[in-house]
Amino acid sequence: MTERCHGDTRPPTGPRARTAVVLAAAALLAATGAAFLPSTASAGTTLGASAAEKGRYFGTAVAASRLSDNAYTTILNREFNMVTAENEMKMNATEPQQGRFSYGAAEQIVNHARSRGMSVRGHTLAWHSQQPGWMESMSGSALRQAMLNHVTQVATHFRGQVVAWDVVNEAFADGGSGGRRDSNLQRTGNDWIEAAFRAADAADPNAKLCYNDYNTDNWTHAKTQGVYNMVRDFKARGVPIDCVGFQSHFNNNSPYVSNYRTTLSSFAALGVDVQITELDIQGAPANTYRSVVEDCMAVPRCNGITVWGIRDSDSWLASQTPLLFNSNGSKKPAYDAVLAALNNGTPVPTTAPPTSVPPTSVPPTSTPPTTAPPTTPPPGGGCTATLQDSTRWGDRFNSQVTVSGASNWSVVVAVTPPQKVSATWNGSPSWDSSGNVMTMRSNGSGNVFGFTTMANGNWTRPQVLSCTAS
Ligand code: XIL
Repeated sequence: MTERCHGDTRPPTGPRARTAVVLAAAALLAATGAAFLPSTASAGTTLGASAAEKGRYFGTAVAASRLSDNAYTTILNREFNMVTAENEMKMNATEPQQGRFSYGAAEQIVNHARSRGMSVRGHTLAWHSQQPGWMESMSGSALRQAMLNHVTQVATHFRGQVVAWDVVNEAFADGGSGGRRDSNLQRTGNDWIEAAFRAADAADPNAKLCYNDYNTDNWTHAKTQGVYNMVRDFKARGVPIDCVGFQSHFNNNSPYVSNYRTTLSSFAALGVDVQITELDIQGAPANTYRSVVEDCMAVPRCNGITVWGIRDSDSWLASQTPLLFNSNGSKKPAYDAVLAALNNGTPVPTTAPPTSVPPTSVPPTSTPPTTAPPTTPPPGGGCTATLQDSTRWGDRFNSQVTVSGASNWSVVVAVTPPQKVSATWNGSPSWDSSGNVMTMRSNGSGNVFGFTTMANGNWTRPQVLSCTAS
């Protein structure tokens, strides 16, 4: 198995990396007597900011055709820090003719997201549905080969741009069998799923590789147990799987159940991350949305939630009005419940920084990170920006910048290579060509913005270079 590296949103999972994290966590436990930070309420004002303060992400499905709708992108850019293409990365979209790949619509979404500091979940490399016509009529070893080539080409194309892939989607049968769904892919042999994961791992060793399905929320259901047994078997045999996605389309036929938290934590106990990947709830009851978020926040390896669309009018199930925003873009009661549950939630465990940090990147002993004086830019720009350290994890850390003296501002921040900013909130970011200098402009979300920096082994504090009033 390829050694898997740190991703934007999940702890490392490769054998060596996992040992390091476990050791660091054990050291922290010994030092503090507590494995996790206390459940401190925070005060984020957007879904993405509040999730990021807890070491998680909050995402949405995005349709490329809606990116020209201002009301849509205003909410997208303000609220979310993870994006999934609703249809544009599916097999019929990316390989409409065999061997001819088409990435235009997918790239529109990826570029929109990444240029604004949002991360991207890839959806999906192999699925029985939404196959191109040429593939639907294939079978046997020709289909197996075509599927593996598709996985390889698409995962290679988006290497470095997609933090997690739904490698295989919906491969298990509904009902009581707990077995696989019949499909042309299944008929190529039961090992088609692990073959897809191995191909994805070879093509993009750094992306987190997920199995994604629906009706796998109820711990007592045969389908849930079937997927669980497959993941356990994959982990036992070293098949490169990092995460399990729970679509979580809840409705009257497939309702939210209180054992959902047991499901999430049971999968996590197998050594995979869990993510809620396509959340929508018929009628959008605030209490049910709150429960879903609380369940994720209670599971340290539940590292993010994605809703399947922004406004009810954007939903694939629009008549169920299942989302967090009304068709006119206003926040529904479910939105307030989700935001509050994020702010009240438990942060993912922090781990001590790696012991191999080179001396040059250790903060000076006279100014440890927690007490380091704020970085203030030279006067003259018309405003002042103060950077404060926030939560730190084993692979990344958050910073918060408070601006005073202007309501329309632009702040330039530099990180030290190989550090990379992986998420931002409460501002509109852009980057210079090196990718290390970020200009953050006010976007109406107030005078405090934040960002997550992937340390990549370097724990130097980001520097505020300037603050300009505009
Ligand atoms: C849906 C899209 O939202 C629709 O626009 C499309 O017509 C059909 O697919 N499970 C999945 C998603 O994994 O890809 C599906 O998305 C919803 C169910």
